[in-house]
This record gives sequence, C-alpha cells and structure tokens, in this order.
Amino acid sequence: IYRNYCMLSKIDSLVKQVEGFSPSSKEELESFRLSYLGKKGHLTSLFNSFKKVPNEQKKEFGLAINNLKNLVQTKISSLKPLFTEKKTGPKPDLFKPVKNSSLGGRHPISIVEQKIISIFNSIGFGISDGPEIEDDWHNFTALNLPEDHPARDMQDTFFVQIRPDVLLRTHTSSVQVRHMQSNKPPIRTLSPGRVYRNEAVSARAHCLFHQVEGLYIDEKVSFSDLKQTLLYFAKEMFGKKTKIRLRPSYFPFTEPSAEVDIYWGLETESDYRITKNTGWLEILGCGMVDPNVLENCGIDPKKYSGYAFGMGIERIAMLLYGIDDIRLFYENDVRFLKQFN
Ligand code: PHE
Repeated sequence: IYRNYCMLSKIDSLVKQVEGFSPSSKEELESFRLSYLGKKGHLTSLFNSFKKVPNEQKKEFGLAINNLKNLVQTKISSLKPLFTEKKTGPKPDLFKPVKNSSLGGRHPISIVEQKIISIFNSIGFGISDGPEIEDDWHNFTALNLPEDHPARDMQDTFFVQIRPDVLLRTHTSSVQVRHMQSNKPPIRTLSPGRVYRNEAVSARAHCLFHQVEGLYIDEKVSFSDLKQTLLYFAKEMFGKKTKIRLRPSYFPFTEPSAEVDIYWGLETESDYRITKNTGWLEILGCGMVDPNVLENCGIDPKKYSGYAFGMGIERIAMLLYGIDDIRLFYENDVRFLKQFN
C-alpha cells in the first residue's frame, strides 16, 4: 500500500512537471518526449509498476497513468509547431521590378484642350463651366439670335423633348452668357466643353465635338487686343514662326466678326489638300462682343467693351496630329489612343 501511495504521488508530481514544462529549443522538447514516452521513460516504468498493483486499485491507477500519458502527448503536439521550420520555397526577389500596370493615358482631345487652357491661363484667363443641356435663351436669344433669326440655321440644334425651349448647347457661348450674368467686369474667362449639332456624321463632321471659347470684357478693350492675344496663342500652340490672318466674317453675337487662319504652308501634297491650295487654314472664329449681348447679360455697353473667340478642339487636334477622320476620337480604339502618350 505504501508503495502504491508513492506511485500516485509520483504521478501527481509528474503531472505538475508536464504542465510547467516550457522548452526553449527543439532538442529540449525531444528529450522531454523521450523521458516520458521513450523505452526507459517514466510512462514505461509506470506501466511496469502498474502490473503489480492489486486488482481493486487498478482502476484508480490506470486512470491516473492514462491521464498523464494524454497530457504528455497533447503537450508535445502543441509545442511542436513552435520549433518546426516552415517549409520555404524560393525566396521572393525583393529587387525584381514590378510589372507595369496599364494605367491608360490622356485622350488626344484632353491633351489639346489642356494645352489651349494653359496658354490662356498664362495670360490671366480663368475657367468657367456650364450645363450641356441648356435653355434657348442662354444658347441663342441672349446672344443676339432672337427666335426666327435666320442665323439659327448656322447651328443645327438638337432639342430635348421635355420642353420646346430646352436643347443641347450648340456652343459654349452659353457658358459665357451665364458667366457675364453672375460676374462683373473685368472678365477674362475660358469655357471649354462638349457641344452638339444635328449634323450628318462623316470624316469631317460629328454630331458632338468640343470647343474652347474665350471672353474678355473690360473698359476700352479693342480689336487690336483681340488680334495680339490670338497671335500670341497661335505662336504658343503652333510654333513661334506662326503667322495669322483675319478674314471678315459674320456671327450674330460679335460685331465686327472675323475668322482666323494660320499659315500652314504648302510643302506636302496633303498641305495642298487640307488648305485647299492656299496654304492657310482656318482655326477659329472671333469678334468684338455685340453691345446687345452685353446689355442682355446685364453689362453696360457704354462703359465696357470686349472680345470673344471660339475654336473647335477636334479641328486643332486633327491639324496637330495629322488625323483625317474625326470619328476616330469617339471610337476609343486603344490602338488609336495609345499613340498620344
Ligand atoms: N460660338 C461660335 C461657334 O460656335 C464661335 C465664336 C465664339 C465666334 C465667339 C465668335 C466669337 O461657332
């Protein structure tokens, strides 16, 4: 009985040892395993002693020994992962350059628009913005194009069928009207944006395109201010040697009005074609803001005068990049778009 009692207390103290065991290396864990589960380990000798335990006590001892064995096994399997090295594949190459992700690029229309904007920004023009769905008044009437005026035919209009006077703006002059209504001179503003005209789609024309229009209003603004500004613009845009010429023209909202050509030259066969054998190319329309327009927008025409101009971005992009079909701009074929970045 005494011996059996010694055995139980031995098991107890082993349980405490197992519970408190915390190895700091793989080797320490292995010798722990051997000292319990090995051939000469504690459990083997306990099982040997167990044989001599009287039958009526076997149950109690058996439970205690099994309990110790389970404890040792769970202890070992929970500690093992701490010391097993993770399987490593080839190490990642931290210096390998990353694969270029394809971010896309700027559309040629945006590139040219930004160029135009930055040239006029550099001489003090800000930007104004307005709605593409416009009312008749801002698009036409305020600009000296009353209802039934024949010049309305110059710009075939898309009407939006919610109300007879709602339309898709045919030019961004409508933005200039809005800007004049809510700002006092001096005014120096650019209105870039998309405009719509009900035209048959072809290589030269589309039912939508983009414009940049400009407006300058102050005391004593003259036609020579307009001409010098446009000359500066043409040189920045097309090169320092660029020459311009102004031809008399007609717009209902400007008086006098002009169309501006740049000298393109007659060097190649295509120069002859695109300049119709003249060497000159039209790039924009302009003029002195008609006093009626100023008055419609709440600006005193006796005190102030101003000039306005407007150009199509597609047209300029086609000249700069030698593109001969306007439809390419709207198809968004990446093979086309990739060439500009
Ligand atoms: N609004 C005119 C157009 O769309 C362009 C223009 C603007 C002409 C300002 C003269 C002055 O064709």
